[in-house]
Amino acid sequence: MSSTKVLNYRNPSLNGTITVPGDKSISHRSVMFGAIANGKTTVSGFLLGEDCLSTIDCFRKLGVEINVEGTNVTITSEGMDQWQEPKEVLYTGNSGTTTRLMLGILSGTKLHTVMTGDASIGKRPMRRVADPLRLMGASIAGRENGQFTPLAIQGTQLQAIDYTMPVASAQVKSAILLAGLRAEGTTIVREKEVSRDHTERMLKQFGADIHVENGVVSFKGGQQLEATHVNVPGDISSAAFFLVAGAIVPNSKIVMNNVGVNPTRSGIVDVLEKMGANMVVTVDDESAAEPTATITIQTSELQGTTIEGDIIPRLIDEIPILALLATQATGTTIIRDAEELKVKETDRITAVVTELKKLGANIEATDDGMIIHGPTKLQGASLQSYGDHRIGMMGAIAALIADSPIEIDDTDCIAVSYPTFFEHVNSLLEN
Ligand code: S3P
Repeated sequence: MSSTKVLNYRNPSLNGTITVPGDKSISHRSVMFGAIANGKTTVSGFLLGEDCLSTIDCFRKLGVEINVEGTNVTITSEGMDQWQEPKEVLYTGNSGTTTRLMLGILSGTKLHTVMTGDASIGKRPMRRVADPLRLMGASIAGRENGQFTPLAIQGTQLQAIDYTMPVASAQVKSAILLAGLRAEGTTIVREKEVSRDHTERMLKQFGADIHVENGVVSFKGGQQLEATHVNVPGDISSAAFFLVAGAIVPNSKIVMNNVGVNPTRSGIVDVLEKMGANMVVTVDDESAAEPTATITIQTSELQGTTIEGDIIPRLIDEIPILALLATQATGTTIIRDAEELKVKETDRITAVVTELKKLGANIEATDDGMIIHGPTKLQGASLQSYGDHRIGMMGAIAALIADSPIEIDDTDCIAVSYPTFFEHVNSLLEN
């Protein structure tokens, strides 16, 4: 593949300050909410990753005016009733968040739409969203009874539901809440394990009257959202790669500012603390719609740990890089209750275990996670990213501690969430 990279770092250390790019989940939602709301929504700190650009592209095809100037985005809309029926298929690329949240949004319009994405999206389960939406009256067709893209949606009047989530998924929760905006009655979503709550926070920011208590979200349909300003913090899931790099690369000290530390996302901070990382987290403003912090991390002596239960949804996207971290910790790290990893951009249990084994890690897959014994000195190898940005970045961080070069087959996919990833690695190497 054209974007194969050979990474050969000799005794590197990482030092300096970086500002990681905007949060992917919040960037998607800022465009979606801006398109649903009445008026001009302004966004700063937007992530110019491929996934978020797919969301912008879909809304442009619905006739919404969106201007992008650097990381500032303006969305001008007169509300959902003014959207146009698109003549083309809406292409969601590699983005599960775009596909699943759009399914909820589009179900309550008056429009016929068709959505499809890339090969990875074509394998990801959509019934987990389509089924509750069908309970609301949505008309959704797709391969295997709506399980897979391409999906065709005939918008219709929806009815509110009271839904207990079978899996911890912010994408499913958000799709139902966004459909609930147009539904008759009060939509209620109940979570056993709380997933990321950016949708709930943003609904409030856009003026909705919504109640959240003890894992139960409820709000009345028919509320009109009003345009506002959204300040997107840095993505903790991107910062995660440098939190781990700072901890495992010798003689390193990395400072990251403006990192989003929403408690539903900050599980990695808890795990690093538990493993003994040399890290300082200074929260900037806890009262902001999305809290942020400056995080400093230095080379650390780490102990293995167990990662399980309700912390899993709080760090689900960080598990590939936490697995690499665990190869450098003393003792055993057990990751369990994480079967959701199998339905991410690729099967991340298989991908992580296969690729880290190539580097000499002592790691085995389990049904719902993995077990890692450390510490192990890693060696070079030829790795596959499986077109998954987070597997590609895990391999690139491993190259900083491997004793010989690491080749990664497809690194273009890293642009899905972190287009400036290698610039940041290089800037930290120079100091
Ligand atoms: C996301 C939710 C999570 C996460 C994904 C982004 C979101 O997925 O893994 O990267 O923005 O709502 P699930 O809802 O499938 O857990």
